[in-house]
Amino acid sequence: MKILFISSEYHPLAKAGGLADAVSALSQALAARGHDVYMVMPRYGSIDRSQAQDMHMSLGVPLGYREEWCGVYRLEHNGVHVYMLEHMDLFGARGGVYGPTPASAFDDNARRFAFLSRGALQLSLALGLQPDVIHAHDWPTALVPSFVNLIYRPSGHFQHTRIVFSIHNFGYQGIFAGHDAGDIGFDPSQLSASDVYSGDDINFMKSAVHHSDWLVAVSPRYATEIQQPRFGFGLHRDIQSRAPRVTGIVNGIDTDEWNPATDALIPATFAPGNRLPKTENKLALQREMGLQEDPDIPLIGMVTRLVEQKGIDPLFTPGTAAMERIVSSLPVQVALLGSGAAWVEREVARYGRTYPNFGATVGYSNRLAHLIEAGADFFLMPSVYEPCGLNQMYSMRYATLPIVTRTGGLADTVDADTGFFIEDSEADAIVAAVTHAVELFTGSRARIERMRDAAMQRDFSWDRSARAYEDLYRRPVD
Ligand code: ADP
Ligand code: GLC
Repeated sequence: MKILFISSEYHPLAKAGGLADAVSALSQALAARGHDVYMVMPRYGSIDRSQAQDMHMSLGVPLGYREEWCGVYRLEHNGVHVYMLEHMDLFGARGGVYGPTPASAFDDNARRFAFLSRGALQLSLALGLQPDVIHAHDWPTALVPSFVNLIYRPSGHFQHTRIVFSIHNFGYQGIFAGHDAGDIGFDPSQLSASDVYSGDDINFMKSAVHHSDWLVAVSPRYATEIQQPRFGFGLHRDIQSRAPRVTGIVNGIDTDEWNPATDALIPATFAPGNRLPKTENKLALQREMGLQEDPDIPLIGMVTRLVEQKGIDPLFTPGTAAMERIVSSLPVQVALLGSGAAWVEREVARYGRTYPNFGATVGYSNRLAHLIEAGADFFLMPSVYEPCGLNQMYSMRYATLPIVTRTGGLADTVDADTGFFIEDSEADAIVAAVTHAVELFTGSRARIERMRDAAMQRDFSWDRSARAYEDLYRRPVD
């Protein structure tokens, strides 16, 4: 099959979260299974284009009141044909993907990502590519399905192309003020048919929910959760109305990049039959985070965006903070890597000064993320909701037992043999689950070792999920 991916993130070229990992690994898994996979993304200022080939194209992209023009760069990455749209004003001259910092957004994001979506379709025409499948991901490319339905199919293009849209996170829908509608590329006559209006606002994700041939949530459990008011963020009825076209396929992980037996980013590699060197990673992690070096104290890792979704409120709200209770009353150490909400970054810095058993790095570091996965005993993910989550799977592969809430992909990938459940996303429940894990660590080591063996044996490779996507791509629409 010819498959055209359109995404705002692709690891390692541009990453803000798990979207980058998931899109990159799935596209490569499909390419490895013999498909022709094309990937279209922006050339952000942070991407060095000297490794890419300039296509010497000038691509016109109609966008509202005027046409924009962009260049195109191309590179081959692990079997995927990656095309990057080069537009200095919208992408090239800026640092971040969505905003200047992880916690902020550019004020023209509606236009930037409408441009990406429309530009990818224009590029497909310019290359003479008639894909069997167009697969768009999350709100930044959520106008792709309605562009295809309202602009391209009526003029004879993409007649036999399936439009698949992946929902990686329904908490970010691409909601903008209604007056941005003129900027996104529909004629006034097409706007109401695009289903993009939501009251006085426009909502990119809403449009995709109504215009895609198939909607895929990144875990089966999340596919049902988004049909409920709590996790549907205002669109649960819209999703319900498309229920026969909604499915869930759990993400895999890149098992080459996250492989404790070959990982070049950690001091000591280890494998299921020989887990002993894991301790060396623990000691290295303790050193790096300014914690006391001690192989016997349970060490809890976290690598996370510090946003509401990840449970930062019960963890860090002063007065009731689960994290403060954990570090002040349990015989544990904590190693945290993350960035996001300023108030949490401040709390994290204060804990670092106050508690010798709390080590934190505020910022972003792929190397340290690998070291935390390899060196910690437990990995804490008290997410309020988690569409899939990748870190719990990385953890299990590194014999680090996840402590997770029972939601979305966490519930679909962790079980009682491989991790611990937090029964709701409240502070008391987080403390209870951590306490239970720590008690087992100190009192029942054999059980912990059995769980580690089981966790390391779980298969989270993409191949199975890539097959599920193949089946979906081929499934008749009517
Ligand atoms: P989400 O996409 O919602 O943030 P996931 O669990 O799917 O959650 O993916 C998060 C990805 O981002 C993981 O690969 C994780 O290691 C990485 N990550 C998050 N924060 C950081 C950070 N501060 N430094 C390095 N990697 C990070
Ligand atoms: C989103 C979700 C996360 C998921 C990732 C990749 O960022 O928050 O749960 O793992 O997308 O699909």
